[in-house]
Amino acid sequence: MLKIAVFASGRGSNFQSIIDKIKSGDIPAEAKLLISDRQDAGALKRAEHENIENLFIDPVHFETKADYEEELIGILENAGIELVVLAGYMRILSPIFVKHFQNKIINIHPSLLPAFKGLNAQKQAVDYGVKYSGCTVHFVDQGMDTGPIIKQAVVEVKDDDTADDLAARILKEEHKIYPEAVKLIAEERIKVKGRKVKILKEEK
Ligand code: GAR
Repeated sequence: MLKIAVFASGRGSNFQSIIDKIKSGDIPAEAKLLISDRQDAGALKRAEHENIENLFIDPVHFETKADYEEELIGILENAGIELVVLAGYMRILSPIFVKHFQNKIINIHPSLLPAFKGLNAQKQAVDYGVKYSGCTVHFVDQGMDTGPIIKQAVVEVKDDDTADDLAARILKEEHKIYPEAVKLIAEERIKVKGRKVKILKEEK
């Protein structure tokens, strides 16, 4: 079973959607660890409730980003983590961290990448006036929100949408495609070639 660690900075609803599918036997993986950079993250409470080891690691306690990430790498290695799932983790990982776990880190972003990278993607979409937005699950590479795309879902933007309206509609889709992407990886049904991700058919 694929051993996964989830990094989350906030409420953790994507984390929850993945562990629910693991618990129901849909995803052949084990959620071993939840790591947060924020003490008040709802994700920590969810992990506690699910009996999943959870750690608040305060970046402020480290002199440099490299020291902070070295600590993370040590924890992940000790736990034998095979996939790092970023679920609302609001920090950019350094190239050293990314290289260490090449093609073993995935992220969900609330837009149809490559549009609206970075913070407040849903507000960016509303402000720009696009008619459709959505969400993207992708491997993490050394850029920001630039890695090979695993899955996307499209969501309509309504005329009177606020950023919060759109975020809520997108979140529903996030909760579908993120567990699906983790399942594909756990079932070893993903091949990455350059920027392209090929999904292999399910064995019958
Ligand atoms: C989600 O909408 C996720 O796509 C977004 O943060 C939210 C976390 O919600 N991530 C980013 O914007 C990353 N750049 P959650 O804590 O309920 O899973």
